[in-house]
Amino acid sequence: MNLDETSTGSAARTRRIIVAIDGPAGAGKSTIARHLARHFGLLNLETGAMYRAFALKALRGEVPLGDSHALEQLAAETTIRLEPDEVENRVVLDGEDVTGLIRNQTVTDAASRVSVFPPIRAWMVRLQQELGATGGVVMEGRDIGTVVFPHADAKIFLDAAPEVRGMRRFDQLGPTPAQQPEEVIRDLRERDYRDRHRVDSPLLPAADAVLLDSTSMSLEEAVKAAEEIVAERLAAHTR
Ligand code: DC
Repeated sequence: MNLDETSTGSAARTRRIIVAIDGPAGAGKSTIARHLARHFGLLNLETGAMYRAFALKALRGEVPLGDSHALEQLAAETTIRLEPDEVENRVVLDGEDVTGLIRNQTVTDAASRVSVFPPIRAWMVRLQQELGATGGVVMEGRDIGTVVFPHADAKIFLDAAPEVRGMRRFDQLGPTPAQQPEEVIRDLRERDYRDRHRVDSPLLPAADAVLLDSTSMSLEEAVKAAEEIVAERLAAHTR
């Protein structure tokens, strides 16, 4: 992808800044990243979607999700592209648009499993560094401020209590949810545990990240707070 082709050409983009947003599932990263991208004229890159696309391929090929070697071989014959758009990223797996196929619970769980393996992470990190190399991006994930772009201009670690994140997820399931709220919260805790305890680049705030806990905030309030954090960091950089 040529990032400049989709550039908004704003001042922030011209300055080629990198904003890193990390945090657990359901903390509101996507909404906030999307807003920040629009506000500061940046491209929004959702790295979780890349792990999800790869997990989809592993599921389709019936590759065991715990077999690091088999997954590494699969990765060697896989291409994943992210194409940022206004609302969400278009995710292209081996030339196929899989955007609508990667948000279900099976893929969600599989993405968390395949992402523990160092060779898979090294591959993804390389791809993400290439995607963000020209700057002018908001990149969201779990290890952006710690591993992918440790020199990002602004880093936010977004968190909220598991019950609150679980209920936000539940509310997104629509009028006929396939799961009870308790199940959503349980799945989210399991995923949290895996993300936070994996040996390679576990989910944790970078030393210089600003912590934003949205437990008792509305999403609008969290968006506003994130906007202020980034504006402040960018101002500090230019002083
Ligand atoms: O953000 P998400 O829910 O779409 O991410 C799906 C999974 O991918 C998540 O459980 C952990 C993994 N992931 C990761 O390990 N590192 C990232 N930078 C992004 C996602």
